[in-house]
Amino acid sequence: MITNVKQRPITKKQKQMLEDIQAELDLCYIPTSFGAVRHHCVKTNTHTQKGARQDVVGTVVIGSTRTQSACQKRHPQLMRLFKKFMKDHAPEFKFRTVYINIDTMCDAHFDHKNSGESLLIGFGDYSGGETWLFKMQADGSMKPYQYDISKKSISFDGSKIMHSSQKFTGKRYSLVFFQ
Ligand SMILES: [Fe+2]
Repeated sequence: MITNVKQRPITKKQKQMLEDIQAELDLCYIPTSFGAVRHHCVKTNTHTQKGARQDVVGTVVIGSTRTQSACQKRHPQLMRLFKKFMKDHAPEFKFRTVYINIDTMCDAHFDHKNSGESLLIGFGDYSGGETWLFKMQADGSMKPYQYDISKKSISFDGSKIMHSSQKFTGKRYSLVFFQ
């Protein structure tokens, strides 16, 4: 087990809310990650994946200014749905930004810019695609611990715990909530 990882079961009601989010996402423009030069796409290797799409909702820091993301301006309804979902799923969890991943498989990485905890949740009709969190062993090697974020969300400090996501089949959506 890895300490400092919190798991929250996804209730039936919340699964329905995630289906509504998925339906809304399918109506939105979420740009491809393939060939993207965006820092996060390169870091997680999604820029080599043909079907991968990613965007960010809420506020982002550009230089020293915090501003609304382009996706937030384009699709403000998404944040309203995300807030409604989180009020039910993890009301105490504070976030300003939500990263949307569609059909991505992320290489192991840290999120150094995120302050504090990130909460990850998966949905869609997929199998595989588990999230791995790595823990350093006494001999210095990194051992992965596997989580199915479509059954329980996980929250952890992504700046301290290295993480990745695995191969999947089907259509996989995930959201990352953070400050
Ligand atoms: Fe990450």
